[in-house]
Amino acid sequence: DYMKELAGVQVLENRLREKLKLDSVIVVPGDSDQHGWVKQEMGKSCVSYMQSVSDPGQTIAVTGGTTMAAVASQMTPYSGMEDSLFVPARGGLGERVEHQANTICVEMARKVMGNYRLLYVPDPISEESYQTIIEEPSVKEVLGIIRSSDIIVHGIGDAITMAERRKTPDDQLENIKHNHAVGEAFGYYFNQNGEVVHKVRTVGLQLEDLQTDRQVIAVAGGRSKADAIASYFRPGKSNVLITDEGAAKELIRDT
Ligand code: F6P
Repeated sequence: DYMKELAGVQVLENRLREKLKLDSVIVVPGDSDQHGWVKQEMGKSCVSYMQSVSDPGQTIAVTGGTTMAAVASQMTPYSGMEDSLFVPARGGLGERVEHQANTICVEMARKVMGNYRLLYVPDPISEESYQTIIEEPSVKEVLGIIRSSDIIVHGIGDAITMAERRKTPDDQLENIKHNHAVGEAFGYYFNQNGEVVHKVRTVGLQLEDLQTDRQVIAVAGGRSKADAIASYFRPGKSNVLITDEGAAKELIRDT
């Protein structure tokens, strides 16, 4: 639209779509590192995008974080999303309650008058308990729903920021730093070549599950996240990126 053209944002969208080889890129004006409202604008754009691709009765898996919380806060009722089922993409990832995937699911479901199913998994979890829990029938059922979800919406974070925010144990934090992790999504930490260098042990969506023809929508902005976003998309794992001008300008800087 006119405002976007004014901001030169459409040019950024096109260049970024080519560079990251995505189906769609939406860039909102501003830099969310500097202004909180830019994150809310990304949330709003994400909601419109979700509404444009969803059909009644679909299952939508979401992750946690402050950007996804902004998506939930911008969610509005929309015909086409009634009877949607919201599920967390993965079990607890050490976020505070208001930024947990479970909480975000409930808020989104409430706003579109849809339904939700949640995952209750202790976090962190021992290998032994993990093996037992994934065999629990109630957990197994939700895991099945998650893996076959129609739409996935998720955040991307800076690796060290996320490792510290999660109070990652020292030995793991060392490993993350030693292996030069730059980005994080779904509990996976990536180096600048997009290789997984660390993974949080939790249930739910696995990276392999993303290699389908579903809508996988990444929502992440702020200049400080440019390297993280680049690492996640090398090689591409999602097909849609919703970001801001701050991150977009930094991402296309060397091209
Ligand atoms: O912890 C959940 C999560 O989606 C991470 O996978 C991601 O790195 C992070 O949140 C993003 O958080 P924020 O939007 O607050 O930067």
